[in-house]
Amino acid sequence: MPGFSTRAIKAASRVPDAPQPPVNVPIYATSTFEVADATELAELLEFARPGHSYSRYSNPTHDALERALAELEGAQAALVTASGMAAIHGVVLSILRSGDEILIPHAVYGGTIALARSILERSGIGHRTVDTTDAAAVEAALGPRTKLLWLETISNPTTALADVAALVELAHDRGVMVAVDNTFATPALANPLAAGADVVVHSTTKYVGGHSDLMGGAIIGSAERVAAAREVVINAGGNASPWEAFLALRGLKTLALRMERHSSNALAVASALEGAPGVASVRYPGLASHPQHRLACRVLRDGMCGGMLAVDLAGGRAQGERFLERVRVAVHATSLGSVETLISHPASSSHRQLADADLAAAGLTPGMLRVSIGLEDVEDLVADLVGAASPG
Ligand SMILES: Cc1ncc(COP(=O)(O)O)c(C=O)c1O
Repeated sequence: MPGFSTRAIKAASRVPDAPQPPVNVPIYATSTFEVADATELAELLEFARPGHSYSRYSNPTHDALERALAELEGAQAALVTASGMAAIHGVVLSILRSGDEILIPHAVYGGTIALARSILERSGIGHRTVDTTDAAAVEAALGPRTKLLWLETISNPTTALADVAALVELAHDRGVMVAVDNTFATPALANPLAAGADVVVHSTTKYVGGHSDLMGGAIIGSAERVAAAREVVINAGGNASPWEAFLALRGLKTLALRMERHSSNALAVASALEGAPGVASVRYPGLASHPQHRLACRVLRDGMCGGMLAVDLAGGRAQGERFLERVRVAVHATSLGSVETLISHPASSSHRQLADADLAAAGLTPGMLRVSIGLEDVEDLVADLVGAASPG
């Protein structure tokens, strides 16, 4: 008879049969999977047969989230990653080689610029930035080395929109691929692949998860594109955690409902803030004053514009700091896309990498606040934010 330790390890490792399928996807908290022989393991590691070998390569909980995201974005395949940045890194390095160039919007998540300035630059991959709301400027900026055009459906933090279909046409004519960060819009509001994009990424940390309790990312597109990105992510170790994949799956179930409420709350708050004492301007695609309001109505589902707004206070940086100290319902924290309203100051947080001139090119002012409107009662939000903005 084996000793106690041997029996305990064997006894506690038996996976139960579950003849009735569980209603929720289980968390497969396992780093590795038992195989019958060396051939099976070798084939699994090459993805030459269905199944799983090691959770850096694949895992059933990841698989469930990947299938769900692929279906909701209208794609063949998806890959989930440790964070949105791991997804962006995986896509970029699976498409670009030393000597190539990526074209990035002026108005873009600061981490994407930081990646271009650090890892990409060191790898011999160049970047240029351009105003992607101006198709002629994009056309002029597509150079002979450009292999990838990066877009955000709704930009972080200025809420500039990308006319994905029009820009895809321009880029494809020049043999340039198009990747779209769909984090702000989510698949509930927009499907960039349907507009012709080659690949979509998400930070699932944000709206997909929706509760500020996970870090994750996703790469979504054709089987070929996702396989190329998987090779980078496996080798760089940017794989997701099954625990966080479970949370993202749970978030997906209520994404549509949450996006409806984020959108209606944000529209009400944006309308109340526009013209309120102490507020210089509000940028929200749902406002008629937004320069791309008509595009938003055309490309975002059911006219819903999501929960993100950019607020410029009349008193600049000093008033911005006072605003952050005054809010009581909203929380001063970085990140976005959650049930609670989150406010941050991009110039000192998500876009701290940018000098004042780059901030201006990105349409950001030093005093601009990024507001991620949550699901609280709208009257409480309006009172909190209009009150905090008031110069008195
Ligand atoms: C639009 C956008 N893309 C990507 C990221 C990066 O995501 P993560 O923080 O999950 O790496 C962020 C983070 O704020 C973001 O706002």
